[in-house]
Amino acid sequence: MEPQIIATIKEKLREYTYHPIPFEEFQEIKWSRESRDRFQMIRETLPSDLTGMRVLDVGCNLGYFCFEFAKRGAIVKGIDQSERELNIAKTIATLYNVPVQFECLTVTPQTIQRLIANHNQYNIILFLSVYHHIVRKKGLAYARHILDGFSHLCQTMFFETSHFLFSNLAPTDTPDFVTTEICEHTQFTTVRLLGKSTDHFQRYLFRCDVC
Ligand SMILES: C[S@@+](CC[C@H](N)C(=O)[O-])C[C@H]1O[C@@H](n2cnc3c(N)ncnc32)[C@H](O)[C@@H]1O
Repeated sequence: MEPQIIATIKEKLREYTYHPIPFEEFQEIKWSRESRDRFQMIRETLPSDLTGMRVLDVGCNLGYFCFEFAKRGAIVKGIDQSERELNIAKTIATLYNVPVQFECLTVTPQTIQRLIANHNQYNIILFLSVYHHIVRKKGLAYARHILDGFSHLCQTMFFETSHFLFSNLAPTDTPDFVTTEICEHTQFTTVRLLGKSTDHFQRYLFRCDVC
């Protein structure tokens, strides 16, 4: 391994990481979301062989989920609007020779429409703890367009959201709210609550399918 590159990444991540970096050399880095529990909940609903599965991780941050899927043979693309996080994720992908395609991109209804128009299709979209940020910045109607777009791009979406800490909007994280949102505003036909993680704030994780 390249000790200097690893040391540089560790220095950059000294103050804060959202989720772990799933490689031996980064075990001691402190993160705010444990995340292995979330990955486990997701995996339990999928076939044991992930080889060749096409996965899009929207708001992938440092790429924890991208790396976990790619290590198991999935074909993974991670997108995030944060250049800083993505540059670190790209460096780690190169360092460990894990074939994840990372792209710096802000997800908007237009970017989703472009993906649909270009016939991109995924087996799985991960949309974990991003939705509430978009609702807060752009409003519910805007965020719903994005959610609906995902139901045209994949068969299965794993979805996690949170409540609003900094606004007076109603909580969006209750199972009833999420089920209604998704069934009424997207093409997903089933919404299943997989569980909740409580390491940060309480957050529910859902699996949504187009049947
Ligand atoms: C709270 S983190 C969640 C990270 C990861 N999905 C997880 O659950 O571990 C939210 C991430 O979404 C990204 N993000 C927020 N809004 C976005 C948007 N419109 N397009 C792309 N990325 C976005 C942020 O840069 C950040 O990395």
